[in-house]
Amino acid sequence: MEFRHLGRSGLMVSEISYGNWLTHGSQVEEDAAKQCVQAALDEGITTFDTADVYAGTKAEAVLGRALKGVRRESLEIFTKVYWPTGSGPNDRGLSRKHITESINASLRRLQTDYVDLYQAHRFDFETPLEETLKTFDDLVRQGKVLYVGVSEWTADQIAQALEIADEMGFDRIVSNQPQYSMLWRVIEPEIVPLSEREGVGQIVWSPIAQGVLTGKYLPGQQPPAGSRATDPGGSAMISRFMDDEVLTRVQELRPIAADLGLSMAQLAVAWVLQNPNVASAIVGATRPEQVRDNVKAVGVKLDADVLKRIDDALGPIVERDPAKTASPKSRP
Ligand SMILES: NC(=O)c1ccc[n+]([C@@H]2O[C@H](COP(=O)([O-])OP(=O)(O)OC[C@H]3O[C@@H](n4cnc5c(N)ncnc54)[C@H](OP(=O)(O)O)[C@@H]3O)[C@@H](O)[C@H]2O)c1
Repeated sequence: MEFRHLGRSGLMVSEISYGNWLTHGSQVEEDAAKQCVQAALDEGITTFDTADVYAGTKAEAVLGRALKGVRRESLEIFTKVYWPTGSGPNDRGLSRKHITESINASLRRLQTDYVDLYQAHRFDFETPLEETLKTFDDLVRQGKVLYVGVSEWTADQIAQALEIADEMGFDRIVSNQPQYSMLWRVIEPEIVPLSEREGVGQIVWSPIAQGVLTGKYLPGQQPPAGSRATDPGGSAMISRFMDDEVLTRVQELRPIAADLGLSMAQLAVAWVLQNPNVASAIVGATRPEQVRDNVKAVGVKLDADVLKRIDDALGPIVERDPAKTASPKSRP
């Protein structure tokens, strides 16, 4: 494993993180979840990402059990707040009330006294930004949270938060968690340049486009049994990529990976790690073999010729529009 700084902070994270969205407490049974976490630890992954909302709060509890007994100082545990965790109007968003209640519940489920990184899972247009940032700052002072970050915020929203933090002396955001892959590059025009200037690192999600960039989904054919595309909880999420043109062009990456002696998943993970603003790529897995496959992307260098072959293969299906970074206009 190799490690990178999280933004301009002193915190080191493993270049590959393990995330449990749609898997723990949902698509996979607890035994499989534990085997994946063990494979991640065996491969040197130290950074684990979850959220209060995953599997209706069950995912944090599964991760807490799977990491039990591991030396706390050897781990970086990340979680998030924003999406609903209950039916009430205060069971969501980034108000002082919900953040305070949610972190306490997350810490209980994760069986830890603190999380290394606490992330605002989306931007909340219904809470003053000062209220959210002051609450985050309070959590840092209470020792419940070591660093704060955001997820899927626009460049303007991140810039505004940094300005307020600097004016008020609040703890600064050190990270952003956006979707980023060969197929989804919407952070490149605005978010990455701002983040480089401001010392914000990207912890990127779905680097394999939820499994699509492994090449296992073939155009015109049924998805393989047991894959996310066949899972009742996951199929809606992956549907944006389940298009014959996308799947056909993805197959054109196969010879590029083969020439480098990489699996397609490794090529996909290596691709996001070429961006120096990326601190870590969060991979998901339903089986331990997937974790072992994906971590081999660490240390792989892709030269300009390879990057050009990838761009030529994917052509117009790559999404680059920065306007695709968006949070709900009102709380979900
Ligand atoms: N902040 C946010 O809003 C947000 C949103 C989404 C995700 N995330 C974070 O990012 C993490 C990763 O997201 P993701 O799960 O979509 O990432 P991903 O790594 O792009 O996709 C993971 C899925 O692809 C399949 N897969 C992975 N490696 C494979 C391999 N080597 N061979 C074949 N199939 C393979 C597995 O699904 P199957 O076996 O079922 O096919 C696995 O569950 C999440 O757990 C979460 O922590 C954050």
